[in-house]
Amino acid sequence: MCGIIGYVGPMDAARVVMDGLRRLEYRGYDSSGIALGVDGRLYFAKRAGKLAKLAELLADSPLPVSHQGIGHTRWATHGGPTDTNAHPHLSSDEQVAVVHNGIIENFAELREQLETDGVVFASQTDTEVASQWLARELRACGDLVQAMRATCGRLKGAFTLVAIDAAHPDTIVAARRNSPLVVGVGEGENFVASDVAAFIEHTREAIELGQDQVVVITPSTVVITDFDGNVKKGRQYRVDWDAKSAEKTGYDWFMRKEIFEQPRAVADTLLGRFDAAGHLMLDEVNIGDDELRAIDKIVILAAGTAFYAGMVARYAIEHWTRVPCEVELASEFRYRDPIVGPRTLCVTISQSGETADTLMAIRHARAQGARVIAICNTVGATIPRESDAVLYTRAGPEIGVASTKGFTTQLAACYLLGLWLAQVRGTKFGDEVADMVDELNAMPALMQQVLDRAESIYRLAHDLAANKDFLFIGRHVGYPVALEGALKLKEIAYLHAEGFAAGELKHGPIAIISPATPVFVIVPPRGRDQLHDKVVSNIQEVRARGARVLVLAEAGDESVVPFASTLIQLPSVSTLLQPMLAILPLQMFACELATVLGHDVDQPRNLAKSVTVE
Ligand code: G6P
Repeated sequence: MCGIIGYVGPMDAARVVMDGLRRLEYRGYDSSGIALGVDGRLYFAKRAGKLAKLAELLADSPLPVSHQGIGHTRWATHGGPTDTNAHPHLSSDEQVAVVHNGIIENFAELREQLETDGVVFASQTDTEVASQWLARELRACGDLVQAMRATCGRLKGAFTLVAIDAAHPDTIVAARRNSPLVVGVGEGENFVASDVAAFIEHTREAIELGQDQVVVITPSTVVITDFDGNVKKGRQYRVDWDAKSAEKTGYDWFMRKEIFEQPRAVADTLLGRFDAAGHLMLDEVNIGDDELRAIDKIVILAAGTAFYAGMVARYAIEHWTRVPCEVELASEFRYRDPIVGPRTLCVTISQSGETADTLMAIRHARAQGARVIAICNTVGATIPRESDAVLYTRAGPEIGVASTKGFTTQLAACYLLGLWLAQVRGTKFGDEVADMVDELNAMPALMQQVLDRAESIYRLAHDLAANKDFLFIGRHVGYPVALEGALKLKEIAYLHAEGFAAGELKHGPIAIISPATPVFVIVPPRGRDQLHDKVVSNIQEVRARGARVLVLAEAGDESVVPFASTLIQLPSVSTLLQPMLAILPLQMFACELATVLGHDVDQPRNLAKSVTVE
């Protein structure tokens, strides 16, 4: 949550910063602001509401032309989303301006200390404590970098801070702890930002910053140190996607664009993952085969959509590896004193790689000696950096807040991981693994077939647009698909939608079904007859209560036809892989329904793409 950008160089800083904020707006969008340094003075503008409000303000009252600027788009934590609480925050002497992402946990104590010394605060934010403290340190030492180090030494919690001071119009100082920050390296210009999307139209060269580091950028230099002033070298890399892929390319919403990108994204996840001997290639690995063979438990940790991907993964991983596998909400994990040790393998799933709940869960697991493999979409993010191995999903930037290609690429990566573990541990023969890999490789084309039938799903969304309650049911891997289908509808259509295990419905939830309640049912392929037949019985139960039954079943499954108000046919695949297909109509349905209802699909209310607070 919160997007940050800083720029020094020959271009008009206000324009560069505003363009960068537009690309970062998905990270938070309840207020935004910008600060520029010109001739020894700081100028700023900030506004509650979406970035368009700030753009209007700047159009009415332009700021002077500057070559040094910082900007922020906010998702409120301390202090409501008001003009005053928007970032940047200037110190009372107007010598420094600061933007911040994260939460300063000891802000109340520091604020009290500053107030005792006579500092008058303008806002309710924890960020202003950082700017006032930074100004105090600057007055004492006269150097913004030293002042930043000293300030960071006093702060507890999670923060990325980016600061400018009025006296140095060619310098930006930034620092990070437990919160993202990346440097964009240009020619005669440099950038800092929460993620590369902010500066991708100007440069694809990026440097990743480590934990507890400070970076100073000028138009021609980038200097990284730790909080003690020791010089550090950041890892430089070239971003492998371009500005165009961060734009909507003709779709009305990023979410819809991302839904239709899934066949490509999944193909990219699978691409070149096995060597000639059939071994999966993880991107960075620090775990030996012997250690993997010794593992006696797998724990999957994730949040939101990634958690539902983890629920699907459990079925596959347990089935293929015969190792007990748990899946747990990251935010709950460490509070139950989990039994984790050196023989536990944690698999963490996170699109952004920055979700604080997930990060804290893996830190807890590692502290108990567990090994951690991350499945992540964001190269160089904190979660993969703090894991022993990483498998990047390579989905490209996901901008829509409601995750879509994030989910299916996470599933693909989980299947790969499960097969790889089965191979290393010898629970599957090479040819069995190869058969599954073939089936996985066939998935993108089958996904495309489902997406090609979007129009019928859109019509259904229009038909059902007046409904206020929706149920989703499924068994086995269909159960997490039901949960994810319901989550999509909650997130972007703001409707009451619930997912249930189909067999559990009769133990209570069936009471909420009234005539014409839409119930989506995910029917498993016919291969496992017991499973399939049980779900068909569940359909009859809801049908008998007058529900409008929307059935997702494989093509040719005649047994469901008599009970379906609407039949959505899916290509035939193995049971374990069906979620990659079954989720697609549910994503399209939610996207269209939210559009019909007039909601902002990409930036739904109250949500943020990446939640970097616990
Ligand atoms: C937020 C987003 C969800 C996402 C979850 C986990 O709540 O709104 O869409 O599924 O975080 O995010 P991650 O980046 O860790 O996958």
